[in-house]
Order: sequence, then structure tokens, then C-alpha cells
Amino acid sequence: MPLYLIAQLKDFRSQVRAESDVQAYMWGVSALLDDSMIGQLADYYASQMPAPGHAGNRNLVEASRKIYQEGIPARAVRACASCHGDHAEGASVFPRLAGQHADYVYRQLKVFATRLRPHGVLMKNETAQMSEHELRAVAQYVQSL
Ligand code: HEC
Repeated sequence: MPLYLIAQLKDFRSQVRAESDVQAYMWGVSALLDDSMIGQLADYYASQMPAPGHAGNRNLVEASRKIYQEGIPARAVRACASCHGDHAEGASVFPRLAGQHADYVYRQLKVFATRLRPHGVLMKNETAQMSEHELRAVAQYVQSL
């Protein structure tokens, strides 16, 4: 996923992505990076072996497998798998979600509703129709993969 990583590092550097954690931790360090360094960092991280997931809350994991794989057709929420992959492995501009910490995933799902991550507009549409419980559950699911 070097393309995704490049896009995020550039969004940190240009301060387009502006959640409080990003402001606190990523604005400063990304200001020191030029495009070539960003490209090298993205290649480096994209070539690492992904770590296996961590088991999450079992009930939430089971409940949200269906949302991840099939979406919620009644509310026009598309299957997460259609963009992020059947195993949440990601590809190109679609980030890998498998094994990502549930707390981080949940926080991002909430951030998409704000203006702090404007390039996440596709995700804003997906998450707008999901309940708090569904967002927490799907975050536990991807962590477990
Ligand atoms: C139509 C394609 C599409 C669908 C469907 C989709 N996503 Fe995404 N998702 C994206 C894109 C593109 C991004 C990158 C956004 C950005 O650049 O900020 C993203 C980003 C994310 C992120 C942020 C990851 C990070 O590292 O910060 C999470 C979490 C996420 N999606 C979860 C989900 C979940 C859960 C679902 C299903 C409910 C879902 N996505 C459905 C396209 C999609």
C-alpha cells in the first residue's frame, strides 16, 4: 500500500489531515520529509511482513463479520471487503485494516464524520449510516484478522 502511505504522509505534511493526534505527533515530523523520503518510507513499510491480528471481543467480532463482508444493504452501507479486501489486506489507495488496533480503527471511523480527514470522503459516506455499536464491532473484527 505505498500509495496509501504516501497520501497520508503528504496529508500530514500539508496539515490537510488534522485530528488532534495527528497534529500532536505527525505534523512536526512530517514537516521534515521531502517527497523522496516519503516515497522511501512508504516502500519500506509496505514491504514489511504484517503482524497477525489480536483476538478482540468475541461477541462483537462475530456480529460484525457480516457487516464487513456484506455491508448493511438496508442502509446502503457497502461491504468493507469490496474496497479493503476479503481479509482486510488492503490494496493501492485502500489501507490494510487487518491487525490494526481496534481503538485506532474506531477513532478513525469517528473522524470521517468530521472535517479533520477530508480525503476520507468515501468513508464518510459509509460510516454515516452506521450506529455506534456497529462502528465499535467492526473495529474489533478487523483487529482480529
Ligand atoms: C468504496 C470503498 C470503501 C468502502 C466500501 C469502505 N472503505 Fe474504508 N477506506 C476507503 C478509502 C479510500 C480509505 C482511505 C481514506 C483516506 O485517504 O483518508 C479508507 C480508510 C479506512 C480506514 C482508515 C484506516 C487508517 O489507517 O487510518 C478505516 C478504519 C476504514 N476505512 C474502515 C472501513 C470499514 C470498517 C468499512 C465498512 C463499514 C469500510 N472502510 C468501507 C475506502 C472504502
